[in-house]
Amino acid sequence: MAIASSGIGTADIETASAYDVERVRADFPLLRQTIEGQPVAYLDNAATTQKPQAVIDALVRFYTEDCSNIHRSVHRLGERATEQYEAARGKVRTFLNAASEREIVFVRGTTEGINLVAQSFRSRLAAGDEVLITGLEHHSNIVPWQLACEATGANLKVAPLNEKGEVDLDAYRGLLGSRTKITAFAHISNALGTVNPIEEMIRAAHAQGVPVLVDGAQAAPHLPLDVRALDCEFYAISGHKMYGPTGIGALYGKEKWLERLPPWQGGGDMIRSVTFEKTTYNELPYKFEAGTPNIAGTIGLGAACDYLQALGRERIARYEQTLLAYGTELLCGVPGLRMVGTAAEKAGVLSFTMAGVHPHDVGTVLDSLGVAVRAGHHCAQPVMDRFAIPATTRASLGLYNTRAELDRLAAGLRRVGEMFR
Ligand code: ALA
Repeated sequence: MAIASSGIGTADIETASAYDVERVRADFPLLRQTIEGQPVAYLDNAATTQKPQAVIDALVRFYTEDCSNIHRSVHRLGERATEQYEAARGKVRTFLNAASEREIVFVRGTTEGINLVAQSFRSRLAAGDEVLITGLEHHSNIVPWQLACEATGANLKVAPLNEKGEVDLDAYRGLLGSRTKITAFAHISNALGTVNPIEEMIRAAHAQGVPVLVDGAQAAPHLPLDVRALDCEFYAISGHKMYGPTGIGALYGKEKWLERLPPWQGGGDMIRSVTFEKTTYNELPYKFEAGTPNIAGTIGLGAACDYLQALGRERIARYEQTLLAYGTELLCGVPGLRMVGTAAEKAGVLSFTMAGVHPHDVGTVLDSLGVAVRAGHHCAQPVMDRFAIPATTRASLGLYNTRAELDRLAAGLRRVGEMFR
């Protein structure tokens, strides 16, 4: 029996410390596809990741065998759906090492998790207060705070980046103060791959009594996570970036903070009782989960957590670091290529420009060679502005990528250089 179709996945039987990437690849049916006669070299993992068979099977199984609404049905289909939905919450709790399932709110993704906090936090902001972010942020960790500031009269402060694409920590510390009501920053930059020293940043914020939200979208697929050790107040992740389904993610929030914040969306399931005069709200985490949620997606997210846990996130991180080092060296040898983002601590992102060639042209030529990368501003226009460029081409690595794929990327880029000479 093929491992991939057993619903178990290579990860479960992988015990040797060596990382067998070919066996891992066998879990991902999409990777068998060819484009222009070549196996697809999927190097766009920061945009979204491919899904292992175990995740696909979890979705199909739910819709084939257990489809029902949750928390409302007395029939056994409803009970099964509810059990699986809540089991997935337990898996996410373990994945993040949160203290309690009451601290895990299911949302559409990191963007929605940040919007939830930013919107609920308006009740704690007033004119003259400050929200502190960094110059490294994705639009989803900028715009929700801008909206909150516009609505309340608070001011958005931004810690600058240095030439390598690292947050200037002294400047960050200097911007924290008595007016700062919350600070929010990425764990890993989607555009550059910079890994922020978030432990240090959280300590600095806490020294000033400031709560912290971490955008963990790009970290969840790459690093072991422990929100209790980090001690952040909020941590947001997206399922689709960690080999799970689209349209589902989770927001971790310390219980006392989730208790403090008002609900942000009203509807079914988030209430305890409703009259036209007054509504009282459900307990955590349901206070923040209005309406029928993405039940199948949640169960699929649980399967993705299982998959990553079984494969071992330390091992994934080690493997990806070797790929990153290999790819960096290769790409730095490509004539006309300039790497954008050279932080000392980086995750698997290779963002670059090619002299005289628009990133979209680079991406199109690579596509014709079966190599999938992203070209553009990566939803991080201020990062591009910092480097005075409109866009980059970005190859972003995942747990199934290989050196051979990076060789194809580098060969494709040499070809681009020749074509546009
Ligand atoms: N945030 C995603 C990316 O970086 C879409 O590509």
